[in-house]
Amino acid sequence: MIKISPSLLSADFAHLEQEIKRITNAGADFLHWDVMDGNFVPNLTFGPMLIAAARPFTPLLFDVHLMIREPIRYAEPFIKAGADMVSVHMEACENVTETLAVFRKAGVKTALAIKPKTDPARLVPYLSLLDMVLVMTVEPGFGGQQLLPDTIKNIAAVRQLIDKSGRSILLEVDGGIRPENAKDVISAGANVLVAGSAIFKQDDYGAAIRALRDNEMTA
Ligand code: DX5
Ligand code: ZN
Repeated sequence: MIKISPSLLSADFAHLEQEIKRITNAGADFLHWDVMDGNFVPNLTFGPMLIAAARPFTPLLFDVHLMIREPIRYAEPFIKAGADMVSVHMEACENVTETLAVFRKAGVKTALAIKPKTDPARLVPYLSLLDMVLVMTVEPGFGGQQLLPDTIKNIAAVRQLIDKSGRSILLEVDGGIRPENAKDVISAGANVLVAGSAIFKQDDYGAAIRALRDNEMTA
């Protein structure tokens, strides 16, 4: 079953409460929060205070994508804010095992994210510590970009690694996902689709979510 994790990066922040309630009623599975530090990526967004403020608006799983350098420094505030699952970037952590352990100890699910040029084989030593792998299908930093076709082979490579491990690890893809390419990423092995502009720039969020999910049947 494909899960859809709408990225609030493309939502209307002036009406965040309404946006979150609308997307919850539209059938989203998770809610994706893109945290950017202006250092690991060339953009700044928001931190744990905003996530904590939004926590009462929905029962959806908070899927928090930390695009920040050394996320271990901010583990505690994100745990307290109500993150259910946290993705940290392999490229941003000095000590990946230790970083994942801090979140896991607090009962938060963990994911490792890789940028388009990072070798998926680098994930292997950490698979036993993961609930999910996040494969970036654009260079992280901005919503509304085009999926990089070269990243499809990264999805397929991660799918193989997960299957070989015999573990039940989700495989999330993020960046430029839209109905026209959803089938390709699902066929390559993804089972969680992040989408920002493909959902929040549409009038009917429910229809936008269904248009992504429907590709499951034909992939
Ligand atoms: C990019 C973010 C993505 C992005 C997705 O750095 O991690 O979550 O906002 O947005 P779209 O779907 O518009 O590419
Ligand atoms: Zn993201």
